[in-house]
Amino acid sequence: MIIAIDGPAASGKGTLGKRIAQYFGLAHLDTGLLYRAVARDVLVRGAALEDEEVAVDCARNLDPGTLDDPKLREAGIGEAASIVARLPGVRAALLTFQREFARRPPGAVLDGRDIGTVVCPDATVKIYVTAEPEVRARRRHLERLSQGDNVSYEEVLALIRERDARDANRANAPMRPADDAILLDTTNLDIEAAFDAAVGLIKRKISQ
Ligand code: C5P
Repeated sequence: MIIAIDGPAASGKGTLGKRIAQYFGLAHLDTGLLYRAVARDVLVRGAALEDEEVAVDCARNLDPGTLDDPKLREAGIGEAASIVARLPGVRAALLTFQREFARRPPGAVLDGRDIGTVVCPDATVKIYVTAEPEVRARRRHLERLSQGDNVSYEEVLALIRERDARDANRANAPMRPADDAILLDTTNLDIEAAFDAAVGLIKRKISQ
């Protein structure tokens, strides 16, 4: 069983992906971490994020053992990731790893932007998680304040809008729901309610 969870930044898809994987006894891959790790490695090499030759080399030589690096969760790296994620060579280099991960028994939950459309078009269940940008910005703002980062709500909202636009408008594998994805709007749901709703949707789909 493969479960694809896509959606914009701070929609809750990461937390949902992790909990859904635990619930169904599946492996979990947060595919955003792959793009974040490529951005980190490009920056470590002192190259520009738009430098496709360096970025592709970083993607090809990515060490999956470094995906738990806490630096990948830092503010700023998500924006950097969305810049390298526009490069077709980077996406191509990361595709095999993601597909092999998904195919390994007993199956997996992958969350990202293009799982239902490109990485796993044959996924058993596809969920597209959304929420209003203001609500996502509020969640991200609280998260950053709790990390001691004194950023303003307006700045976080501007970054969310900018990243949404970059991810949705890129030519290659843009963020969008697959035609057969089930939409889950978490604007008015806390994480418990969103999790219950997602489990219900998945159970209904696999019993069909
Ligand atoms: O989900 P997360 O915020 O960690 O993703 C960081 C960036 O990586 C996204 O803004 C997006 O540009 C890129 N990404 C992608 N395709 C995926 C996962 C993430 O393009 N499957």
